[in-house]
Amino acid sequence: MTKELDYTRNNRRDFDKGKLEDGISDNPMLLFKSWYQDAFEKNATDPHAVVLGTVNKDNKPSSRIVYMRDMLEEGYVIYTNYLSRKGTEITENPHVSMLFYWDVLERQVRIEGLIEKIDPLISDDYFNARPRLSQIGAWASEQSTKIPGRETLEERVEFFEKKYPNDVPRPPHWGGLIIKPTYYEFWQGRPGRLHDRICYQENGDKWEQYRIAP
Ligand SMILES: Cc1cc2nc3c(=O)[nH]c(=O)nc-3n(C[C@H](O)[C@H](O)[C@H](O)COP(=O)(O)O)c2cc1C
Repeated sequence: MTKELDYTRNNRRDFDKGKLEDGISDNPMLLFKSWYQDAFEKNATDPHAVVLGTVNKDNKPSSRIVYMRDMLEEGYVIYTNYLSRKGTEITENPHVSMLFYWDVLERQVRIEGLIEKIDPLISDDYFNARPRLSQIGAWASEQSTKIPGRETLEERVEFFEKKYPNDVPRPPHWGGLIIKPTYYEFWQGRPGRLHDRICYQENGDKWEQYRIAP
């Protein structure tokens, strides 16, 4: 075994920053909000960074980090290129997962649900509030497609800078997606790997709550 792997294997730590009681909340979104707030207050790096998991039409999974930009009553909003790899995969299969990990709190939250495009007017609002270079980038970057080199990207940035010297319109292929949850798991690290795991499964118009073994 190489030295680096030796380090990985022997790098053990205990989790002791908190605990998670049964019956803590009937509403997983409220619990999520309070955990998110805790992460924000504890200065977690990018508390809104989330691993989005998708599965393509051949049942092959893939994941990447995106930013959660909004929490609405119906779900969690992210923004991306609809023609990207993730965009194609969710068209083929709208079942997705989200994974938040807040190291400072020794907490992770797993969310599963269905994803769909949000109202174009909400996407417009968000796009219009982005910095200009990000707006130009949304036109310039054909996200997830092969390019011969970085120059191609830079040339496209220049092209769209000239095309839109003033306001930049939202590209039709760029906008928001909302993940409507059907399942949550709240995980709080505990000593000896005896972690707390509280789950919420959507059942009709209710959330069934239960604990699972660590
Ligand atoms: C911290 C962080 C935040 C990111 N936020 C976004 C985001 O909000 N939207 C997005 O499309 N890509 C975001 N990315 C880039 C994605 O991880 C990914 O590279 C990109 O969306 C293409 O993924 P795809 O080819 O699977 O579609 C972020 C990456 C990191 C590391």
